[in-house]
Amino acid sequence: MTGRAKVAVLISGRGSNMAALLYASRLPDCPFEIVLVASDKADAAGLKLAEAEGVATFAAPAGLKRAELFATLDGALRASGAEFLALAGFMRILPYDFVTRWNGRIVNIHPSLLPKYKGLDTHARALDARDLVAGCSVHIVTAELDDGPVLGQVEVAVLPSDTPDSLAARVLIAEHQLYPRALAAFVMRDRTPEAKLARVRDLAMALPGAEETTSHGMACFRVAGGKMYCYFTEDHHGDGITAVIVKTSGPDEQAQLIDQDPDIYYRPAYFGPSGWVGLKLHHDIDWDRVEDRIAASWSLVAPRKLAMLREF
Ligand code: GRF
Repeated sequence: MTGRAKVAVLISGRGSNMAALLYASRLPDCPFEIVLVASDKADAAGLKLAEAEGVATFAAPAGLKRAELFATLDGALRASGAEFLALAGFMRILPYDFVTRWNGRIVNIHPSLLPKYKGLDTHARALDARDLVAGCSVHIVTAELDDGPVLGQVEVAVLPSDTPDSLAARVLIAEHQLYPRALAAFVMRDRTPEAKLARVRDLAMALPGAEETTSHGMACFRVAGGKMYCYFTEDHHGDGITAVIVKTSGPDEQAQLIDQDPDIYYRPAYFGPSGWVGLKLHHDIDWDRVEDRIAASWSLVAPRKLAMLREF
């Protein structure tokens, strides 16, 4: 199946949730594939399992400082082509800049019914509180620990005889059910036109002086009050295309791009001969390329003052 979302899993230990994701990814119609299993610990048992299953692995060298560790991990994750990160028993708090760089594309599984019992010892805390129901949650990772929007939860009954270990073992069964489904729904959600527009908007609005407006029913972005540099088009007049339309330096560059990559680039209708090019957002989207193209287009129209701002 082409166009599956590429997911890297981060682990620190056993990796049973990683295994649940991996085996789910091998079922027909699973919308994600595991492109890398990475760990901050070279001896994480889950790495051996991933290797045996023929999945690429990466272990950060021991003794790195936090910033170095995350820079190293980030390098490996990017090189793997991962679009999403799934934390599965990854026992590190992510630095703010790492979370921002993967903006809304990291998910985690936590063994409690969030917002209850963030952090560690969740099962002992549930038992101490005499909760009748425990469970697990999958959530989007934000810079706050165990705090992002919850994507899904499974409740697990607490038995009178439960110890933290026996409860953990049952919650783990629920985790293995929940994580693949929540991740599948999450990556599918990312493929909707609304999600693509949201991502284009993030990129376009990150440029100095950016302003959003609408033209011919398309969301578009211009330098405040001035020239347009990016349009988002979704099935315009029923053409079936989802794309960003950006400026190139002119018809030559436009023709060259279309020549080189006719599956991705196209000449948009109604834009005249001025060198606008469409970049399709269908599957296997290279968002770095989208980001570069939007920025290049912005540079072509931005007044010098703003362009200088961006260099700093
Ligand atoms: C799981 O209970 C998960 O919820 C928590 O850490 C544990 C990891 O277990 N975040 P495993 O490595 O996936 O087996």
